[in-house]
Amino acid sequence: MSQANGAEWARRRTYAIISHPDAGKTTLTENILHTAGAIRQAGAVRARGENRRTRSDWMKIERERGISVSASVMTYEHDGLTFNLLDTPGHEDFSEDTYRTLTAADSAIMVLDAAKGVEPRTLKLVEVCRLRDIPILTFINKMDREALDPSELFDDIQDKLALDVTPMQWPVGSGNRFKGVADIASDEFIAYRRPVDDEYRPSERFKLDGNSIAGELDAAELEELSEGMEMARELMPEFNEQSYREGHLTPVYFGSALRRFGVRELLDALAEIAPGPGPKVAVKGPRETLEPGDKEVAGFVFKIQANMDPNHRDRVAFLRLSSGEFKRGMKLKTDAGKALTVSAPVMFFADDREVADEAYAGDVIGVPNHGVLRVGDTLSESGKWKVAGIPNFAPEMLRRARLKDPLKAKHLKKALESLAEEGVTQLFRLQVGGEYIIGAVGALQIDVMAQRVADEYDLEVVFEASPYDTARWISGPEAKIEEFIARHKSAIAEDIDGALVFMAKSAWEVNYSQEKWPDLEFSRTKERE
Ligand code: G4P
Repeated sequence: MSQANGAEWARRRTYAIISHPDAGKTTLTENILHTAGAIRQAGAVRARGENRRTRSDWMKIERERGISVSASVMTYEHDGLTFNLLDTPGHEDFSEDTYRTLTAADSAIMVLDAAKGVEPRTLKLVEVCRLRDIPILTFINKMDREALDPSELFDDIQDKLALDVTPMQWPVGSGNRFKGVADIASDEFIAYRRPVDDEYRPSERFKLDGNSIAGELDAAELEELSEGMEMARELMPEFNEQSYREGHLTPVYFGSALRRFGVRELLDALAEIAPGPGPKVAVKGPRETLEPGDKEVAGFVFKIQANMDPNHRDRVAFLRLSSGEFKRGMKLKTDAGKALTVSAPVMFFADDREVADEAYAGDVIGVPNHGVLRVGDTLSESGKWKVAGIPNFAPEMLRRARLKDPLKAKHLKKALESLAEEGVTQLFRLQVGGEYIIGAVGALQIDVMAQRVADEYDLEVVFEASPYDTARWISGPEAKIEEFIARHKSAIAEDIDGALVFMAKSAWEVNYSQEKWPDLEFSRTKERE
């Protein structure tokens, strides 16, 4: 089991849950927090931390400024470790924030619906995890319903996600015939009991070679289980921590979030194998990497939450700390040299938030500011660091920005540029004609853009359909790029940093262009410098 020895940062486990809508992410999150005691004990956590954090301050700030911050980070303790569970917005609020949040996580839990396996949204989120080789632990949920056969699920993960799969457990039955799971390493059977009330009780365990197992499983079930376990042991890769940590192998667990089965085992597994904060590659700075144990406080902004009150321009920037011991009131500088005193940093709890007096590498704090901070900014004491943080992601929705009053074109430019810089949406300007196209990965981003352009810049803008379906950043030999541009004049744009972008009418066109122009690269992401 993990130990609480050593530096504070080494006790941090920062992770996110990824899933397709309806697989059970919300239910699992709730039950993780319950099982860890975070929801019921929120009051206790507060009492213990009374000297460290002053809760009322933040509530006041929130009230006075009308900032609404959803529970974007949920912190709980388990097994001597501090877990930061980052919320990855899903459903209607799926947006670039969902992807960006993953860049702030050190590992992820992938939740699959046992009847459906890998679904499209899961696939996309895993692709984003791949960019940083984020280790993925799999939880196959809804075993209390009819499920696919375990080997079908394993094949699905292996084929669709190109990950090695190690079953850590093997289930017996599903739906009405779901009996529980066997823990492959310990040869124990963990019995499923449908909960009768809201109490959280640890599951009962039986030795597979003991006498009492006969009271749980009949001969046919035991036979099936032993075949399954044999297959897992002999035909599937053994769990290899390094391979998991490098993002090549996923250990698989089973359960039912709704029936609170398998959640404690999942918490224990995370405590045992999920990595803590690691080194961060610097694109600029005194050294090549920033280590979590470094003295200097540094971190990067992965999300900005705008104030919903139009009378204020306050924003909360979510800062993932990469190194050092942060203390309230510290002066930090962005990589562009802007200084700010972090006097009211916010720490988030399961159902609460408090002003943080200290935070460590792996933690996420909310930094209220007046629009000084942007997504992707690095904040550090010296201001000399810039870490490789948040890439841009190829938009899946592209809208043309049409102004109702053409005389306000200059204002529109300013509004779109500054909101895009903040990370609300992406912005592309067509080389021919100069039209603005905004790009997003989720519809919510376009709504927020429209709302803020209206509220904060007083502009009437219609975001209408554009002929483009997706965008790719172009790179390669200059002569080839020029040749490509000459042939695709009307489909070339520049992003907010002036990088060249191919505006494609369909995914098919992207593939076709890639085949016809093998020397060029059409990228789905762009690292920001
Ligand atoms: P999401 O955040 O991934 O979108 O999923 P969410 O937790 O909201 O779960 C989606 C639906 O699946 C919910 O049902 C939820 O109760 C159900 N669910 C989640 N985990 C399990 C499970 O382990 N077993 C079973 N049988 N169902 C599960 P709903 O009908 O959409 O909502 P509700 O009316 O139950 O709240």
